[in-house]
Amino acid sequence: MIITCEKCSTRYKVADDIIDKPAFKVRCHNCNHRFMVYKPVEVEDSFLLEDVIAPDFNRVITISNQKGGVAKTTTCLNLGVALAKMGKKVLLIDFDVQANLTILLGFRKTGSFYDVLEGDSSDLTTFIEETNYSNLSLLPSNSRMALLKKKYLNAPRFEYLLKDRLDRIKDDYDHVIIDTPPSIEFFTLNAMVAANLIVIPSTCEYLAMHGINQINDIVAVLKKSINPEVDFKVLITMHKPDDTSEKVILRKIKSRYKDNLFVTVIEDDSKMKESHIINMPIAFYAEDSTSAQQYHSLAREVAS
Ligand SMILES: Nc1ncnc2c1ncn2[C@@H]1O[C@H](COP(=O)(O)OP(=O)(O)O)[C@@H](O)[C@H]1O
Ligand SMILES: [Mg+2]
Repeated sequence: MIITCEKCSTRYKVADDIIDKPAFKVRCHNCNHRFMVYKPVEVEDSFLLEDVIAPDFNRVITISNQKGGVAKTTTCLNLGVALAKMGKKVLLIDFDVQANLTILLGFRKTGSFYDVLEGDSSDLTTFIEETNYSNLSLLPSNSRMALLKKKYLNAPRFEYLLKDRLDRIKDDYDHVIIDTPPSIEFFTLNAMVAANLIVIPSTCEYLAMHGINQINDIVAVLKKSINPEVDFKVLITMHKPDDTSEKVILRKIKSRYKDNLFVTVIEDDSKMKESHIINMPIAFYAEDSTSAQQYHSLAREVAS
């Protein structure tokens, strides 16, 4: 093995058989600089890093909580934008009839998953829109989505309607993030069946904790039956760190969910409210704001 001094570039030849540790410290005889050396790992040519990383790890993320107003849509948009800014190719899916995500991204008259099912083709790409932000696409929602529940709820395999279609295109993206309505029915169930990870945004309020428990129970059922690969993680949103009752609830959530809790906490931030008023993701409206930084750190957690 050849070791090159990081400082003066003097090169030393060391016999491989005397190196018995994967990493060790050395001192350069020439300049006295001390530095770490890592023994190169031998890999077969055909063995690439992509083979080691589970291909679907965190690929399809469903944002869900039966409680409204806990920042589901905000998280879908701003996590998606933060991942896209990191160079990840992201598809957002608006699976809520209210179409808040679609509106926040500046779209009004668009197709939706309803039109995918009604059209001749089952191809989601027909209705996917490119947003104003690079690496970020959207399958929008519209009011016609309200008809889907009635039309398909009794159809066989109705809970696979999204998954069957998403599986054909999901490899074109690093992450697909699905926004859902504040209830567990047709849309949320379809989004959960398609997911690798269910993110449960929750505020630190007493009743919000029950929302987490309900999704937790549903994930347990999903794991046993339809979707054994799925996992969930709780995300604390709109947190007020100085509020005593929030501190108590946060401690409870931490002790109950430990490994199923994101390290990143999203704090209550007036800049976020402003960003919604002018329909802009927080990373573009106020890049240095607390919540923009926190969604960036959430994106790093999701991608890591
Ligand atoms: N970090 C935050 N700080 C302050 N307000 C926030 C934050 N995140 C979301 N909000 C506000 O909370 C409200 C609900 O958010 P939304 O994403 O629509 O929730 P949901 O999709 O769960 O119903 C919105 O008015 C939004 O502006
Ligand atoms: Mg919403």
